[in-house]
Amino acid sequence: MHKVSFIGGGNMAAAIIGGLISSGAQPTDIEVVEINPDARANLAARFGVVTHTDLSQARLHALIVLAVKPQSLPDVAAMLASRLDSHLVLSIAAGVRVADLARWLGGHTRIVRAMPNTPALVQAGISGLFSSPEVGQEARSQAEAVLRAVGGVVWVADEPQLDAVTAVSGSGPAYVFYFLESLETAAVTQGLSPEIARQLALQTFFGAAKLALESGEEPAMLRQRVTSRGGTTERGIFALEAAAVKPAIGQAVEAACRRSAELGDELGRLA
Ligand SMILES: NC(=O)c1ccc[n+]([C@@H]2O[C@H](COP(=O)([O-])OP(=O)(O)OC[C@H]3O[C@@H](n4cnc5c(N)ncnc54)[C@H](OP(=O)(O)O)[C@@H]3O)[C@@H](O)[C@H]2O)c1
Repeated sequence: MHKVSFIGGGNMAAAIIGGLISSGAQPTDIEVVEINPDARANLAARFGVVTHTDLSQARLHALIVLAVKPQSLPDVAAMLASRLDSHLVLSIAAGVRVADLARWLGGHTRIVRAMPNTPALVQAGISGLFSSPEVGQEARSQAEAVLRAVGGVVWVADEPQLDAVTAVSGSGPAYVFYFLESLETAAVTQGLSPEIARQLALQTFFGAAKLALESGEEPAMLRQRVTSRGGTTERGIFALEAAAVKPAIGQAVEAACRRSAELGDELGRLA
């Protein structure tokens, strides 16, 4: 694993650092610039990484991960610009496009943009990655290794597809929580206790996802297999179809995707 500098040591950075260390990275090969004293002390105590209060103290390793909030990125990029040469910059800031970041970094082009999601906090994330063609394969692999420490990765060929990634897996955990809430409420309505309702909903979701993942079978096939003619599941699925749940999911993803593109436009006007 290469040495890595993190700018911003919040939730996402801490998750990735934890993942890197559990996959064998040396804590002393990781430096973190974090302005918040509590977050800084926490990172040093938890992981033994090298921490700095501001960017001017950082050594800046060959791979730099930008993990501050998108709104802070123009200022951070302005401070970083004059210190970059062949560094690879991996940005996990939601919505900030490569061209805007490149401009804020004074024309630096070795940039990979990633969209992780919150299950990264338990090392079960999935990240979408994009880079412009001038970023070579070796650099891409280095960036990919950072996000692999907290879950799976997929590469998209065109940057606008990251808006779709944002709408599906970035916002997706919230759709899942919404489904879980609904299933729990329905269970309680049918007379089960809230504790039992939660256990049933959570374990069913987890178990079905694990089954789909491990069997490698089509979800539609798995569904058909538990849907016998005239049975209870068939009746439940009919009700979901009658309520147009599938098109509603399509509309949710479409709306989130549109909002992601709008946010990209708004963030691009920040500096
Ligand atoms: N959480 C997610 O699910 C998710 C998913 C995809 C992408 N992301 C992206 O990941 C990035 C980080 O998210 P997060 O949830 O980890 O946010 P966070 O917990 O707020 O982490 C950002 C940290 O950076 C610090 N910071 C701000 N300005 C700085 C500077 N100039 N130099 C050094 N440190 C600075 C902040 O300190 P203060 O708190 O004192 O400002 C904060 O501790 C965001 O850009 C977000 O869009 C997050």
